[in-house]
Amino acid sequence: MSRKTEREFKVHSYVQYMRDKYDPYRKWLEGENLPVIGGEFVQDVRTLELAPWDRRGGSGAYLVFSDQHVADAYVCEIPAAGSLKPQRQLYEEIVVVASGRGATTLWWDADGPRHTFEWQRGSLFAIPLNCWHEHFNVSGDEPARFVALTSAPVAWELYRDHDFIFNTDHAFRDRFDANVQDLFSQPGKYLTNYYGGILDTNLVSDLREVKLVPREKRGAGTRNMYIHLVGSTMFAHISEFPVGTYKKAHRHGPGAHIYTLDSTGYTMMWKEGEKPKRYDWSEGSVISPPAGYWHQHYNTGHEPAKFVALHASIAVSGGDSEGLEQIDFSEEDSALREMYIRECEKNGVPVQIANSSSGHS
Ligand SMILES: [Fe+2]
Repeated sequence: MSRKTEREFKVHSYVQYMRDKYDPYRKWLEGENLPVIGGEFVQDVRTLELAPWDRRGGSGAYLVFSDQHVADAYVCEIPAAGSLKPQRQLYEEIVVVASGRGATTLWWDADGPRHTFEWQRGSLFAIPLNCWHEHFNVSGDEPARFVALTSAPVAWELYRDHDFIFNTDHAFRDRFDANVQDLFSQPGKYLTNYYGGILDTNLVSDLREVKLVPREKRGAGTRNMYIHLVGSTMFAHISEFPVGTYKKAHRHGPGAHIYTLDSTGYTMMWKEGEKPKRYDWSEGSVISPPAGYWHQHYNTGHEPAKFVALHASIAVSGGDSEGLEQIDFSEEDSALREMYIRECEKNGVPVQIANSSSGHS
């Protein structure tokens, strides 16, 4: 890859000074006494080894990936017929259910209205900022697991105060009005005048059932949908690309965490000027491109590849008006394409992208 470096992401020396002096997020993390997974990839969150989680109940592990800064993730398991302790927090959270079935209750005031919704493998929802929430496993014999993206690192950097973050008595009713009936059974609204498609909703029961719209700019046959949940600044998007295809390489700022829903494949990821590294994925995999790293997703399975990406914010993205900076097929490293063709042949998958080298922008 001989593209000129257009931008570099480095820790500013002021940020380093603040870390050396305070480091509130890391200190809090140590007190959680859970496994902390670094790097940028977990093969399968459904089988990831977890540890008992005293603060919340259940068991968990943190995913604190390289260079993310603006977000962290965690994996949590609720035992069969169990529940987690109620919690509220002054940071946002988006949840994807990896396995099992459960329910979540939300409320602002102890004697005020409560909302309970059910979830299952493939559900997506957000915890409204600072809202009390309690998760239950509704199955008597199967554990339930979810992976969540949070803005906890930002909250810790800003406030450095445990009591303020977890025990502030303020209801953000403009984000979540508990007096409105049926909040979680109302259908979402598909808005087509932004980004091609945004689903504005409170709950996605099954990510696999969300309507998608063409997004050819990212590669032939690619379809997607952005999802806005209960007034959160954090958001998600679903992407699907056909059998025998891959998406164009692109890069952006920190905070994106990708959870694979369907098919098998791999992602090539590299820092400008360095050798691409390969990550093989399937359902349950989470990959998080470090800020500014090129990454490219390849479908080698026999079904369309589908993932949901959880995002902290797009405020730090570069590229065009949609935060997109990508390498067109005509400019890509031919060795990467050849590798893809070989991988598809190994799997008996027909390659459909061979004539797309001029790109689809
Ligand atoms: Fe990306």
